[in-house]
Amino acid sequence: MSEKLQDIARALVAPGKGILAADESSGTIKKRFDKINLVSTEDSRRDYREMLFRASEGMKNCVSGVILYDETIRQKAKDGTPLVDVMKAAGSIPGIKVDLGAKPLAGPTSKIETITEGLDGLRERLAEYHKLGARFAKWRAVITIADGYPTWNCVKANAHALARYAALCQEARIVPIVEPEVLMDGEHSAHDIDECYRVTEWTLRTVFRELYDARVDLEGIVLKPNMIIAGQKSGKQASPAEVAEKTIKCLKATVPSLVPGIAFLSGGQSDEAATEHLSLMNAAGPLPWSLTFSYGRALQAAALKAWGGKPENVAAGQRAFTHRAKMNGLAALGKWSQTLEKAA
Ligand code: 13P
Repeated sequence: MSEKLQDIARALVAPGKGILAADESSGTIKKRFDKINLVSTEDSRRDYREMLFRASEGMKNCVSGVILYDETIRQKAKDGTPLVDVMKAAGSIPGIKVDLGAKPLAGPTSKIETITEGLDGLRERLAEYHKLGARFAKWRAVITIADGYPTWNCVKANAHALARYAALCQEARIVPIVEPEVLMDGEHSAHDIDECYRVTEWTLRTVFRELYDARVDLEGIVLKPNMIIAGQKSGKQASPAEVAEKTIKCLKATVPSLVPGIAFLSGGQSDEAATEHLSLMNAAGPLPWSLTFSYGRALQAAALKAWGGKPENVAAGQRAFTHRAKMNGLAALGKWSQTLEKAA
């Protein structure tokens, strides 16, 4: 495979393919395992992820890359094969989460707003990850909407950190996934779709201004934004058609067409809603960039449930994963339908 940033970025958003976000930190994966009454250990985390990476039908046809957590990129499968080699054999590019998490943003808004940390020492960490096989990375910035929030201080600080991270990645010959997430879930999620539009537009404009200032090559990045959608606690949910229309409008207003691709996060949408929204957007094309998925929960929830931590359920977990991967692969082409969803 080509080692050029632009080629890697284009491969990540190749037609009908998207990214599997399997980079849950140890704290987050524990919360997911709690739901199936499974103790989170190094071995159970390995078994779970190995099951996904060996779901070869879904992986080969629909997954371009996998975002890993630090532990996983160093882990070996049960038979001793490095997990990175397992996913490469399934045709996937290894990626790595490099931020160290969202921490309270010092100052008067620290109870609500966060700044993502991890820039110190990042140059050295990226060099090591490149040696371990990573060819793309992820950094997630979090923006919360609430009464009077976000503040400019929060938007600016997070956009600046994203640009510094992206420049360091490109220096290390690693494609940065630039992820500014305007939250749709959690404690503060009562906003409507138009408030999400306003804040996302503001955030993306600021991010691209910072990327420009840092001289980041836009052809060698992938943007990972939220869709334009009402908060989970809003009493007013928009229709799928409205989500698709407003998301495309917001992205057209803010994302330069040099960017090869946009891979959405699922953010707390149901599996099917995340798929349907993506499909509607692609069906409304042509669009200036490739639009696909980089889902965590919306790709994994069904597989995790079907597996339930039991070795005898590995095949059932893989079937569930492959189904979601296929449905999202179709959505990336604008070809998903209810009928195909149910036909499986
Ligand atoms: P979700 O799709 O579950 O939102 O996760 C995507 C992700 O990588 C968040 O950083």
